[in-house]
Amino acid sequence: MLTRTRAPEEAPAERGTGLGAVRLREVAKTFAAPRRGVEPVTAVRELSVTAGPGEIVAVVGPSGCGKTTLLELVCGLTAPDSGTVDAAPAALMAQRDLLLPWRSAVDNAALALIVAGVPRGAAREQAAALLRDFGLAGFERARPAELSGGMRQRVAFARTLLSGRTVLCLDEPFAALDALTRQEMQDWLAGALLAQPRTVVLVTHDVEEAIVLADRVLVMSPRPGRVVAALDVTAQRPRARTDPSLVALRQRALKELSA
Ligand SMILES: Nc1ncnc2c1ncn2[C@@H]1O[C@H](COP(=O)(O)OP(=O)(O)O)[C@@H](O)[C@H]1O
Ligand SMILES: [Mg+2]
Repeated sequence: MLTRTRAPEEAPAERGTGLGAVRLREVAKTFAAPRRGVEPVTAVRELSVTAGPGEIVAVVGPSGCGKTTLLELVCGLTAPDSGTVDAAPAALMAQRDLLLPWRSAVDNAALALIVAGVPRGAAREQAAALLRDFGLAGFERARPAELSGGMRQRVAFARTLLSGRTVLCLDEPFAALDALTRQEMQDWLAGALLAQPRTVVLVTHDVEEAIVLADRVLVMSPRPGRVVAALDVTAQRPRARTDPSLVALRQRALKELSA
């Protein structure tokens, strides 16, 4: 069965405030061989993932196990070969920040609004307010090359939030950052999501990041990827990395990953 249903688009007044759900059931996806002599690749098989409204679900798994494919399925950028994908409108923050180098921070953040037909002035105002919330006051006019990696990711996250989609798909958002900045950005994202709750599917290869941020951590098998373990993270927020329950969960997740 190949079906895909989407919740109706929200009314403009509610844009960005709703919480949607995600449900993939027994999904398989094989990519055709790009040329002769190359085998087709089954990226995921028997993949079932759910995220309830407002839930933060982290997905960890080895490189090439189909994590990005999972997010593309949720966002409707690729169709499953079999199984079902039900998802509220979802926005993807891609693996690389993909900011337009010639546009300022505020114009990059406002992009989704402008594409949706919001007048430029109003879009800029909304984007500038969010950038200020994100600690980027004074950097509104800066070009991406003038920003640090962590700042660029905050701009990219602002743009993703402003899409007004109820589900956020974040693909290894901090993988390119140095360890210290990555920790700062994880704590920052945890705070941003506390202030503005969203349904989130967060892909990462960093188990600690998954556990610091998520309500539930899903561990995927090597390709073809499917979920082999699900760990609930019940620790209250804000979370300390040194919390013994989090440290124990991390050990369990690492064990599942290497099983
Ligand atoms: N558009 C595509 N065409 C062909 N192969 C693809 C495509 N997208 C992904 N793949 C392959 O599917 C597998 C899973 O990829 P991906 O979902 O990007 O994994 P991950 O994000 O976990 O590293 C990889 O072997 C990758 O090469
Ligand atoms: Mg990937």
